[in-house]
Amino acid sequence: MKDAFKAIKISQNVYWVGAIDWSIRDFHGYATKRGTTYNAFLIIADKITLVDTVKKPFQDEMLARIASVIDPEKIDYIVSNHAEMDHSGCLPFMIDLIQPEKVYASTQGIKALKEHFNWDKQLDEVQDGNSISLGNMNITFLATPMLHWPDSMISFLDKDGILFTQDACGMHLATGDIFADQHDKWILDFEAKKYFANILNPYSSKITTFIKRYRELNLPVKIMAPDHGPLRRNDQDIKDIVDLYEFWASGTGYDKVIIIYDTMWGSTGAMARVIADSLIQQGIDTLVLSLSATHRSDVATHLLDAKALIVGSPTLNNDLYPTIADCLTYLRGLKFQNLMGAYFGSFGWNGKAFTYLKTYFEEMNINIVSEVVKAKYVPNDNDYKNCQQLGENIAKVIKAE
Ligand code: FEO
Repeated sequence: MKDAFKAIKISQNVYWVGAIDWSIRDFHGYATKRGTTYNAFLIIADKITLVDTVKKPFQDEMLARIASVIDPEKIDYIVSNHAEMDHSGCLPFMIDLIQPEKVYASTQGIKALKEHFNWDKQLDEVQDGNSISLGNMNITFLATPMLHWPDSMISFLDKDGILFTQDACGMHLATGDIFADQHDKWILDFEAKKYFANILNPYSSKITTFIKRYRELNLPVKIMAPDHGPLRRNDQDIKDIVDLYEFWASGTGYDKVIIIYDTMWGSTGAMARVIADSLIQQGIDTLVLSLSATHRSDVATHLLDAKALIVGSPTLNNDLYPTIADCLTYLRGLKFQNLMGAYFGSFGWNGKAFTYLKTYFEEMNINIVSEVVKAKYVPNDNDYKNCQQLGENIAKVIKAE
């Protein structure tokens, strides 16, 4: 693969030397339907510096891209902004290959890297606000713990005005068109939203704090360079993603309801349709997602800017329907804020699923604003009336906010 891949120049002194993962469709439980990129960056300064690496299977691709610019062994410094293995996977190999003078990481980054790779290596600690000199330019580090891991940091290259944001402001989108302005905006907005909902949402309060600080710093950012997906090189694209992050992190949704359900013999599905129609009649934006046809990570994406979650599950073998349990376990970890909701379903001998739904709702801090609707075997007219009432109740609370 030595000459098979080329670097892409992104500014006067910096090259993209990452890898394109065209085929990945499952990123630890997140459906990456458009693949992804692992972005790494080569800074040609007096001290030649590599910012992040790529996932281990793409080592040869990264190395070839670096070699299209310089002999990799000429790299002096490596900066590890984030220790998760999609960015650090090639770090042990690169350190052994090039024996860099310095490998910079945050305090937590050094700890995480040593624990991942069972290292006894000497790494170089940088803390929030520290700068390092590359000779003719400088990198300043900003600690961003929990964006996405405790070790995460963002780094700013002063000369070219590049903000390396690691996971933050990225998206899973495989592309050779490295800049955001080469893509349809609606695709970028969707994939950025999906990324936020599925990766960063649990850390929304940290994001809100960081955005405030970012705005106060007023850094002269010319390029925002995340570790996944396209880079942003114009002011409007950069402003757009910061504004979107501010909105998503705020936990304030639109007047929108998401109904998720699965069904054994059609009863819970029929109830979902009646609840949806009731909400629609009340003028509420409503989306019904059958979990037999919808991936959990798409549910998370739709839920990010919704105000209510309604869940329908049959009882199967004295338990939740498996797709419902899967999705709720996933959503519980993502810690959506300020949701209201209700649950419903059909059952045969007992309604044990309702007990589990109640527990999930409590653990997810969802404010239950309408009574559970239970239908034995097949819903009757009264059950459907209760479904309509459930929709009206949710609509009423949303409108009253
Ligand atoms: Fe792309 Fe948290 O790693």
